[in-house]
Order: sequence, then structure tokens, then C-alpha cells
Amino acid sequence: MTTFTVSNYDDAFATLRVRDLAQALYDEGAVIMEDVLLTLHGEAHRDRRRLENRVFRREIFRYYEGQVIPRTIERTIAPFVERGHADLVVLGYRVTMNLTADFAGIDRPHQTPDETEALLGLVVKFSEGATLVHSTRDHDAVRAEVRQALGDFDRIFLQPSIDRRRELLARMERGEIDESDLPKDVLTVLLRNEERLPLPDDVLRREIAFYLQAGSHSTANSVTHAMHEVFDWCETHPQDAARMADEPLFLQRCIHESMRLHPASPVAWRKPLCPLELPNGQRVGDGDKVIVDMRAANTDPRVFGADADRFNPHRSLPRGVQPFGLTFGGGIHACPGQDLDGGAVPKPESNLEASNGLVDHLFGAVFLLVDALLARGARRDPARPPERDAMTERPNWGSYFVVFDDAGGR
Ligand code: HEM
Repeated sequence: MTTFTVSNYDDAFATLRVRDLAQALYDEGAVIMEDVLLTLHGEAHRDRRRLENRVFRREIFRYYEGQVIPRTIERTIAPFVERGHADLVVLGYRVTMNLTADFAGIDRPHQTPDETEALLGLVVKFSEGATLVHSTRDHDAVRAEVRQALGDFDRIFLQPSIDRRRELLARMERGEIDESDLPKDVLTVLLRNEERLPLPDDVLRREIAFYLQAGSHSTANSVTHAMHEVFDWCETHPQDAARMADEPLFLQRCIHESMRLHPASPVAWRKPLCPLELPNGQRVGDGDKVIVDMRAANTDPRVFGADADRFNPHRSLPRGVQPFGLTFGGGIHACPGQDLDGGAVPKPESNLEASNGLVDHLFGAVFLLVDALLARGARRDPARPPERDAMTERPNWGSYFVVFDDAGGR
């Protein structure tokens, strides 16, 4: 078996779009990832993606961004702001886990910190299972824990959420409620279409569990990285601090720039389904592995300039290149949550100075949370410097303490 690594931007972009390369990163984590959207290929992937795409629509994102996300942010960060300090890693996970649960279709009827804590514990275990390939622990021991977590998840959260949705679907059939009264989430779409696309119980369980961990882990890390880059940049560019407060499009640009530097999945792994030639001319065959290095591609100086490995929200981008590079992937597995988290990418002609009147513009969940934190005067806690996460080789933050200077607003 030979491993081929693709690191420059153009080749990485094209390689993610090769049809006969299938997902390979999650084979070891099958206990949670078997037959979920991200590991399917061909027709099975197309059919499931088509169905689930019904939730990933602009008007639904607008509903989440206008109504659900601000409420979740407010409710989750209020106790931290009251206390005057927070660990962004902890706070980020709580907000994003709640957001992703709403989107996946997992109810939290009690809305208590204990309930959030219980779900979070399960989601962390699912993440450990998904990334088993990188784990230094005994893999069978982790698998047993993930199975246990899936059982608990099913009993405590999934089955009650399914029962409530079936009841609502039955009421809609009887004409008692309108279609618009149904929850706007992945679970509802799957239950509503189970005759067209039947999923065995264990697959449905893994699919929803996968959504919870895919959405929350990446969003939480993006928020902490973005806050870090913003703090650093404002120290050396104080004039831009005011712009971040006054010009939402500029703050969104900063967030996209941070996403480019810190892709939640730094690499994508693929396996060839038949002998083929990669876009860079290399020939691959059975048993080979192709690693698309998204982090390297996102800092390719030929595309992003000589300072490609540094944060600079004023950089200009070549036509057709997204400001966050390949952070949301590409090709058939491209992240459907891109607009939900990153918002819409403003057109080059959009005026970054004047973003008033952009009533319809989607800014994304990461923006909304970063903006809410900055609006409350979040700044690095001078007494507790941020620390890297020692549990992973990925350059994530293990703790990042902030204090809130102004609970009342900017
Ligand atoms: C900053 C946040 C996020 C980042 C950076 C991110 C990144 C990615 C990447 C790189 C992939 C493709 C992986 C590959 O090709 O192997 C992916 C797939 C996926 N993401 Fe995200 N994601 C984010 C947030 C979300 C959210 C919030 C959701 C759901 C609510 C979500 C749902 C998914 C799903 C379902 C897939 C699989 C798509 C498929 O296989 O067709 N992601 N994401």
C-alpha cells in the first residue's frame, strides 16, 4: 500500500472531486461511522444526501439564524457572562452542541445544564469513536464505550425525539397541524420519508449521532480559533477592532480568514475504487491511500500570497477561491453545513464598509457567537493564558479563558 499526499491548492481542489475516490478516514471508526452520510458512496450517498439536503436550504438557514441560533446563544452564554468569565472551549461546546442538536432533531425537553452535560458527554464519546484511527487508546475498549454511549443516547434522547416527531407527522396527516409546524431538522426529514428511503434502526441511530459530533466539534473549534485570531489581530491593528464592531461583513471576513488557517478536518483521506490517475498525474490503485492535506492547500502561497500562513483579513483572493479555502471540503462530501456555520460569502462587489441593509445576508453561527462574545467585551483573561489541547496532535485549544468587560454590550 502506498500513501499519496496532495498538498497544493489546485490539486487538492481537483482531487476532492474525483468520483472514484471513496471516503477512507473513518474505516477504523465504523462503530459510529458505518453507513452514515460521510462514509457512503455512489447511489447510496446521492439518495441520502438529496433527502437530507431538504434541511440544508437557504430559507431554513435563515430561520435558524434569525430565530433559533440567537436564542440558543443567549441562553447558553448568559450564566458565563454573569460570572464575568468563561473558558471558550467549554462555552463553545455547549452552544454548538445545542445548535447541532436542534438541527439534527434531538430534543432536550428539560433545558437544564445537567441535560446539556449528559448529551455533551455522549457526543464527546461519539467523536472519539469517529476519529479512532488517530487514537492512542486501546481501540476495542473505545469501541465498547461508544456502543454503550449509543445505547444511552438511543434510550435517553433519540427514542423520545422520534416518538414526538411521529406524533407530529400523524397529526399533520390528520390535518390537525400544518407542514410548517413540523420541526425543521434532519430526523424529521428521515422519518417523513422512511418509505422512500428506509433506514434500519442502527443506521438511523448512527446517522443522527454522527450529525451531533460532526456539527458541534468543528463549530466549537472554529469559534475558539476565530476569537484567538481576532484578539491577536486587534492588539496590533487597533483600528480594525472598531471595524469588527461596526461592520458585520468585516467581522465575517475575519472569521473566514481564521477558518482558512484552521480547518476543522486538516486532512481528508480517500481510497481509489479502481486504478486511476490523480489530477497531479500520480497513478493510484487498489489498497493505496490518498491524503488531501487541506491545511497545506489552504496556506499555498501560490494562491493566498507570500503571507499565506498568517492571519490577514485584508488579503485579496484570486477569482473563484473561497475565503476559507478548502475548509468545508469539496466534491460529493462537501460540507452541507457550510452556510449554516460560515454564512454566505459576500460577492466581491459587496461593500465591506457599509454592511447595513444586508438584512438578507447569512452571517453564520460562528459569526453570531463571536459577535455576541465581542459585544459583551470578551477579552483574554490575563491571569489564565490559553493552553493547547495536549490530548490531540491537532493544534486545537485545550482551554481559552476570557473575561467579560461589559455585560451590557459594546
Ligand atoms: C466550521 C464548521 C464546519 C466545518 C469546518 C466542516 C467541515 C466539513 C468537511 C471538511 C467535510 C467533508 C469531509 C470529507 O470530505 O471527508 C464535512 C462534511 C460534512 N459536514 Fe461539516 N463542517 C462544519 C460544520 C458542520 C455542521 C454545523 C453540520 C451540520 C449541522 C455539518 C455536517 C456535515 C455533514 C452531514 C457532512 C457529510 C457530507 C457528505 O458526506 O455528503 N458540518 N464537513
